[in-house]
Amino acid sequence: MNPHAKPLALVLALAGGLTLPMAATHAANPCKPAAAKAANPCAAKNPCAASNGIDPQLVTRPKNYRRYVGDAAELSSEGKRLWSDSRLSTNGMSCNTCHQANSAFQNSFAQPYPHRVQMAQDNANMKTIHLDEMVQICMVAPMAAKPLAWNSKQLAALTAYTAEVQKTFKPTGGGANPCAAKNPCAVKN
Ligand code: HEC
Repeated sequence: MNPHAKPLALVLALAGGLTLPMAATHAANPCKPAAAKAANPCAAKNPCAASNGIDPQLVTRPKNYRRYVGDAAELSSEGKRLWSDSRLSTNGMSCNTCHQANSAFQNSFAQPYPHRVQMAQDNANMKTIHLDEMVQICMVAPMAAKPLAWNSKQLAALTAYTAEVQKTFKPTGGGANPCAAKNPCAVKN
């Protein structure tokens, strides 16, 4: 459902004689105040986003980029291990903390890379990104760490495994509130 639809639904519900606890409804949805104008109704209240101005240079493929090349199966299994390794972050989180069972991903994750990702747009002003760049963005922002070396086995492994995860991802069809349920950061609000 698009964010504009909710107020309309409320109005219709009220017109239909239903009494709704308006104040409670507002308080429950942290995204509501921004919904009318912002493209991303969550961005303003999303602690993953808010304080994280990301230097795009940190997370953009360098010139003459040479990725680590290795055995695909080995990279993927190494990436699977790293996916749950909280030592990659400085805040005790691992990729799995937020992305277990495909949590926190928005529908953009279903598209082939490169594509537009809201967090990359909002925090790093990057219009489209590659998958390895997205791994770096999550390293720098939610994981509060340094980006991995561009030619590292770790980055190649995490990217390979994340590509496997992507194959299992099903977009929600836009029906759900994109802010609340799937955003692990919202829980802390
Ligand atoms: C604190 C929570 C958190 C952690 C930890 C985290 N991420 Fe994310 N990640 C997010 C959120 C929130 C989004 C959704 C951003 C958006 O769509 O705007 C996301 C999106 C992504 C995407 C999908 C972008 C797209 O194409 O739509 C990838 C890939 C990703 N993360 C990889 C990782 C990897 C790899 C790690 C570990 C190195 C990681 N994330 C750690 C919160 C987190």
